Amino acid sequence: MRETPPLPVDLSGIRLDPVGGLSRQLYRALRERILDGRLARRARLPASRDLAALLGISRNTVTRAFDQLYAEGYIEGRVGAGTFVADLREPPAVAPALASGPEPGPALRLLAEHRLNPRPEGPPRAFRVGVPAFDLFPFETWARLSARFWRRPPMHVLGYGDPAGDRRLRELVAAYLRSSRGLACEPEQVLITCGSQQAISLCAQLLLQPGERVAVENPGYRAAGHAFAVAGGQLCGVPVDGEGLDTAALERLGACRLAYVTPSHQYPTGVTLSLARRLELLAWAERHDAWVIEDDYDGEYRYRGVPLAPLASLDRQGRVLYVGTFCKIAFPALRLGYLVLPKALVEPFAQRRALDMRHSEIGTQAVMAEFIAAGHFQRHVRRMREAARSRRDALLQGWPQVPGCAPLPMVEAGLHLSVPVESLARERELIAQAAAVGVEINALSGYWLPDSATPEDDRAGLVLGFAAVPEAQILEALQRLRGGWGVD
Ligand SMILES: Cc1ncc(COP(=O)(O)O)c(C=O)c1O
Repeated sequence: MRETPPLPVDLSGIRLDPVGGLSRQLYRALRERILDGRLARRARLPASRDLAALLGISRNTVTRAFDQLYAEGYIEGRVGAGTFVADLREPPAVAPALASGPEPGPALRLLAEHRLNPRPEGPPRAFRVGVPAFDLFPFETWARLSARFWRRPPMHVLGYGDPAGDRRLRELVAAYLRSSRGLACEPEQVLITCGSQQAISLCAQLLLQPGERVAVENPGYRAAGHAFAVAGGQLCGVPVDGEGLDTAALERLGACRLAYVTPSHQYPTGVTLSLARRLELLAWAERHDAWVIEDDYDGEYRYRGVPLAPLASLDRQGRVLYVGTFCKIAFPALRLGYLVLPKALVEPFAQRRALDMRHSEIGTQAVMAEFIAAGHFQRHVRRMREAARSRRDALLQGWPQVPGCAPLPMVEAGLHLSVPVESLARERELIAQAAAVGVEINALSGYWLPDSATPEDDRAGLVLGFAAVPEAQILEALQRLRGGWGVD
């Protein structure tokens, strides 16, 4: 029998597990030794036959491992001379999984400073904010429409689609906004998005230069503020009073590139922007050559009269970008919304979206288009409005009088209400006691910008979503709350 010659390098520590893929294990073992320097640059590897004999495996297994190392450039062959470790640069001293990489750039630092609040977990509970009555969604109908679409999808929609969105859905959204919301717009102005958040984020990316100032409502929707800040915008809080955004305070800010507002139902205070303020805001935008983003996240929910005409319907200058969402009528995880843009912005916004994600997934868009065309959407809006109204009534009627907390306000719109509390300490106490009996309440103080001039105690309050669960669960939660707070 032929004697195995001594190996040119020491590979005696390699142990292979006979149960796993042998060539993969050998490849990994050799690669690791090359990267950490145990196999030196230009070192000669044993012939495959000798290595196979040493490790007690087949020569084919060794050849497969070598082939992979060749292909990835770890080893190289010299004709007539054998196989050598490639002449690599010095490998990094730390294992890749442990290395922290280059110093994070400003974008990563900004992201770390502007995190979203932790997502509440589990099924909806009283009084979760931002959640509609999605227990009432007609899943059977959706499933039927979805199955019908996927059973025989039109071939022409299965390739890369229009980044602005499915044409039919854009037409139906424009028709819905014209007839139900009094917003005259063309399908060409509608850009389908993954919910309001993506619409806001696109505005931040495309309308802002780093360092430019952005006016945001204070208190306000922090996720929008984060999107502007991460795009490099400098957030400037504008106070909100009984008429909505204080436009005189906005004027005092001086130059701003953009204002973000929730005119139908200010988030989170619930105030509606008065007509006088709407006109002042539009005049401000004209004076300062600024954009206005109108976030109409829950505009369908109006409990007296018809939904308000959007601010965008008063805009004669093409300065208002209107943000709408299906997530408050269907359910948040649907991730479907839209932007209505001044015509000149449609192409750049669509291009930006194409670079991010090409376009939204076709199935959801097509099924939503059919859902609207067949009349299900309008019926569902009515059903959701009725349900939210009745859940609101359950909350208003059963709410206990609590020391330190103002009486609940009239609620004519939206899916939540907010009520002032006498101090930050009392706010914390009430929320902790509610949490202890399994009731979710948000702190109004959490919606303020961190450097607000308003004294801390004046920022305190409770924010309650009333639509997330049916009346019986609301009453039961109120019962527990009375126990937790020790009131009748
Ligand atoms: C003011 C406001 N805008 C937008 C959204 C989010 O909408 P979407 O789920 O469509 O991103 C919310 C969610 O609660 C909101 O409160």
